[in-house]
Amino acid sequence: MNNQKVNIWLDCDVGNDDAMAVILSLFHPKSNLLGISTCFGNTSLENCTNNTIRLLSSVGRTDVPVYKGAEFSLKSTRATTKMHGTQGLYAANKLISTFKPIEDMDLYDLIKQTAGDQEFVIVITGPQTNIAKLLRDHEDIIPQIQEIVFMGGTSGFGNVTPSSEYNIYSDPEAAQFVIDTCKQHSLKLVMISLDLTYTCQLLEPLQQRIKSINTKFSDWCLEMLQEYQAAYKAQEFDYPPIHDPVAVFYALHPEMYVIKPVYCAVDCESKLCYGRTVIDKQGILGQEPTLQFARKVVVDQFWNQMIEAIQVAAKNSKIE
Ligand code: BDR
Ligand code: CA
Repeated sequence: MNNQKVNIWLDCDVGNDDAMAVILSLFHPKSNLLGISTCFGNTSLENCTNNTIRLLSSVGRTDVPVYKGAEFSLKSTRATTKMHGTQGLYAANKLISTFKPIEDMDLYDLIKQTAGDQEFVIVITGPQTNIAKLLRDHEDIIPQIQEIVFMGGTSGFGNVTPSSEYNIYSDPEAAQFVIDTCKQHSLKLVMISLDLTYTCQLLEPLQQRIKSINTKFSDWCLEMLQEYQAAYKAQEFDYPPIHDPVAVFYALHPEMYVIKPVYCAVDCESKLCYGRTVIDKQGILGQEPTLQFARKVVVDQFWNQMIEAIQVAAKNSKIE
């Protein structure tokens, strides 16, 4: 196994499952989290940013810069989701907040400042607006990006419309721009879709393992996840899929995934299927692949390492 650390820039819309992505990228031993940019998404940009700050403050990681990013999608429409409550993060009032986000500079300058000349991976767990703008306005950063991994899309049914997944539906034009740019620059793009994240549900024994950590922070974590579970129960899921850390885990352990190159395009036109990721798994269209579609992950390993990260977060906790 390659034990070299992976530099990660995380772009997210915290978000209950985004919170788990933040924890994994902060505390996995292979991860070097350079910084976080926030985007509108599960809730307003303001809430998503405040939730990110709360989480970092509560685990003593105020060294990680938080950039307040896009408030609207490229075309200024905005989707909403009921899955994350009004504030975007359940039991957020149990966390503390000790610093402010960065908003008076360009995301590009902040990334350059934190990454220097090092290569890094971008992981996107919300709408892709920030990263589309970064690639559009600063092509010169592309050679420094090792790969982009995003959580979003589906080859099956959707979760915000019958055919579309939330993150892509929230800014389809941005997602298509990222696909086109990666293709044009031969930059590896990995898609962690609902097909895969539905296999990573927080089953009862996993909840027991979080419970047994038995600290204020792990109790918060479990409470937050159980409220998220309640929202999923209303959608006929017994257990909640924890989508976003599955994208972070790919950046750290690609060998635990089965991926397949496929042609994927986003429907930015139609009424019924707006935001649909059209994935040509069988090569019917005869088009060249545009991304790597993750088909499988070693689910036990994902959860073992996710729970270990929660344990480390709990040891670092500043909440009383
Ligand atoms: C995605 O949408 C959001 O609600 C989640 O945080 C996740 O990123 C799942 O469709
Ligand atoms: Ca998210």
